[in-house]
Amino acid sequence: MTTQTWDTQRYQAQHSFVWQYGTALIDLLAPQSGEQILDLGCGTGQLTNVLAEAGAQVEGIDADPAMVAQAQQNYPGLTFRTADARDFEVATPVDAVFSNAVLHWVLQPETVVQSVRRALKPGGRFVAEFGGKGNVQTIISAVESCLHQPNFWYFPSVAEYASLLEAHGFEVTFAALIDRPTPLEDGDRGLANWLRMFGARFFSGLSETETASMIRQVEDRVRTDRSALTLSRLYQNGGWVADYRRLRILAIRQGNE
Ligand code: BEZ
Repeated sequence: MTTQTWDTQRYQAQHSFVWQYGTALIDLLAPQSGEQILDLGCGTGQLTNVLAEAGAQVEGIDADPAMVAQAQQNYPGLTFRTADARDFEVATPVDAVFSNAVLHWVLQPETVVQSVRRALKPGGRFVAEFGGKGNVQTIISAVESCLHQPNFWYFPSVAEYASLLEAHGFEVTFAALIDRPTPLEDGDRGLANWLRMFGARFFSGLSETETASMIRQVEDRVRTDRSALTLSRLYQNGGWVADYRRLRILAIRQGNE
């Protein structure tokens, strides 16, 4: 569910933490057997499959056709389709909409919340986790100073997102901002891999040589900075630990209209 296209092989090989950390969110959702659940921004389908294994009737949607194709190849027995978080429909309203590590990519959060509400039965649950205020701040600061490029993700505070949900007919029953230092795979190449996968937009228009040089500058900067959140360095013992900060939400759709 992104505005960029993905290298799905590299995504699965080097960034599996994205769905491995999603199990706490599944606990918050507490899927029941027979429930209809929409996985909003299903990526390559691993968490959609966990929901199906819990007995839910699940459908995964993602904005990127390559992600949907990979999810379908990974889990041929499940249903996936391409759809945009800002404007999607479901055949019949569902018991829950679940979304992990996606909504920071969508810069029109109001349209997402409206679509989610439309998709839910009255009393249905919206359970989501994504980057919250202060997420990957050390990396963003380094990119800003080396590349003079501003952050392009949506990382709201608890108050901001809960207010948005309340304004659109949800009752927020759980909201938390959670620091989650996240080790990046592949040793000292971890930050470069992460920037190439998730921050490709920062380098658009640059040649490969310029991109590699910029990445080295960002690495040097991040290596010497301390995280404002944890006060520790992101480069530790030959590897990188990104200063992730998650916004985790459970909200209930109000009203019958
Ligand atoms: C996140 O999951 O918080 C995230 C991932 C990639 C880019 C920015 C944020």
